[in-house]
Amino acid sequence: MDKLEKANEYIRSNRVAKEEVPVFHVSPLCGWINDPNGFSVYRNKIHLFYQHHPYSEVWGPMHWGHCVTEDFIKWEDMPVALAPDQDYDAEGCFSGSGIEVPEGHLLVYTGVREEEHNGVKSNYQNQCLAIGNGVTYTKNEHNPVITGDMLPENFSRIDFRDPKIWKEADGYYMVIGNKTIDGVPQVVLFHSDNMHEWHYVSVLAKDKEGNLGIMWECPDFFFLDGEYVLIASPQDICANEELHNGNNAVYFLGKYDRNQHVFDYQHVYSLDDGLDFYAPQTMETEDGRRIMIGWMQSWDNPMYPDSQRFSGMMTIPRELSMKGGRICQLPVHELENYRSNVTRYNNVCIHEETELKGISGRSIDLQIALKGNEYGKFRMKLAADERHYSEVIYDRDEKTLTFDRTHSGFKKDAISTRSMYVSEKKDVINLRILVDRFSVEIFVNDGEQVMTSLIYTPVDASGISFASNGKTYLDVTKYDIEA
Ligand code: FRU
Repeated sequence: MDKLEKANEYIRSNRVAKEEVPVFHVSPLCGWINDPNGFSVYRNKIHLFYQHHPYSEVWGPMHWGHCVTEDFIKWEDMPVALAPDQDYDAEGCFSGSGIEVPEGHLLVYTGVREEEHNGVKSNYQNQCLAIGNGVTYTKNEHNPVITGDMLPENFSRIDFRDPKIWKEADGYYMVIGNKTIDGVPQVVLFHSDNMHEWHYVSVLAKDKEGNLGIMWECPDFFFLDGEYVLIASPQDICANEELHNGNNAVYFLGKYDRNQHVFDYQHVYSLDDGLDFYAPQTMETEDGRRIMIGWMQSWDNPMYPDSQRFSGMMTIPRELSMKGGRICQLPVHELENYRSNVTRYNNVCIHEETELKGISGRSIDLQIALKGNEYGKFRMKLAADERHYSEVIYDRDEKTLTFDRTHSGFKKDAISTRSMYVSEKKDVINLRILVDRFSVEIFVNDGEQVMTSLIYTPVDASGISFASNGKTYLDVTKYDIEA
């Protein structure tokens, strides 16, 4: 049996039951997933691929899992699209992207192979193509189409991965993550007239200050509401005011010199301040929206409960816009079609710990306007039962919003809490919180900031309560989400 068939056969017989997976977030049928890949439209449907190791709940030789949707919420599972079955990708089909071309649905990915140079064996990374009909994909006979030898001398051939492709009037472009031999992370740009023959163009951007990690993974480059945006996922950052330790997902804003193909960034911002967000990728819908999806887990804490037979899931797809010089993210509006059982409260005064009738659930879209100026701290418990809860805490004096999953039921000494600074708009903070069994995504002030984290609580823990150390006035709307 070939590797692709073997993977599909394994998945058919080891598929996790529907009750054990998220309701409206993409998760693997079994095994492990990481980065979203190939997020693109093909024949009017939206395709999402993902880094996948079906055989266990930990990372292993990378395949590309695949699913399709018409509305970003209800996904149809497709057969595994790529397996590491060629000499040029024997160590894995790493991350990449997709695009509709006249010949079909083109996938661009990193093929990893072991090579020996001067007596030292290492995994080398090259870029490969596959073309398909939306269901099955055939690797290009001339793979790899971009090799490390096409890079300038002092650039790494070992860390050279995650191509993101797009089309412009003068042909196809690709950004690829890379670093110099002396360790400066950067994004390189390639061009092709015909998708098959590629040439190196430029270093699109590189770490200017030497404080943005050791390698920039999964780059993405696009134009959004009048601004050029570069997204990347730098590895191994030392924490500063904006970023936390380890792997972060960031966006850069700056000036793009289209003649030199150089993006001079002026600002670097975090995309998501939660515990579990990495390697996001964007696509453009037919109606012109820029949608981003990320891997909802973390390399430093890739955790899952012992009883869970899959690991990793995707965020809700988020619509991006620019507001006040920052990216705003909101769940795709298609989610609204899956709302039911609305419960609403206006101006409820909260002080002691309070539950509100009808406000509970583990698959919900919850909107809260937090009002008033007579309190210092507001706490909200989610996914709660007698033993477990996860908390969202707003500290009015410190101006911080904190997510804390210490009591969510995970028995390992893993990182459990993260905070970010937030700002009130006329004594009001708006929170939109998506809870989907194993995850909590908090969108603050209409998507100005986001915090995404996993929780590991038994799924019947669905209580919600509110408390504050002074009077808080709440508007609350809760919808159940059924997909
Ligand atoms: C990012 C990443 C990519 C790589 C893939 C391997 O999470 O490390 O750079 O292509 O995962 O699974």
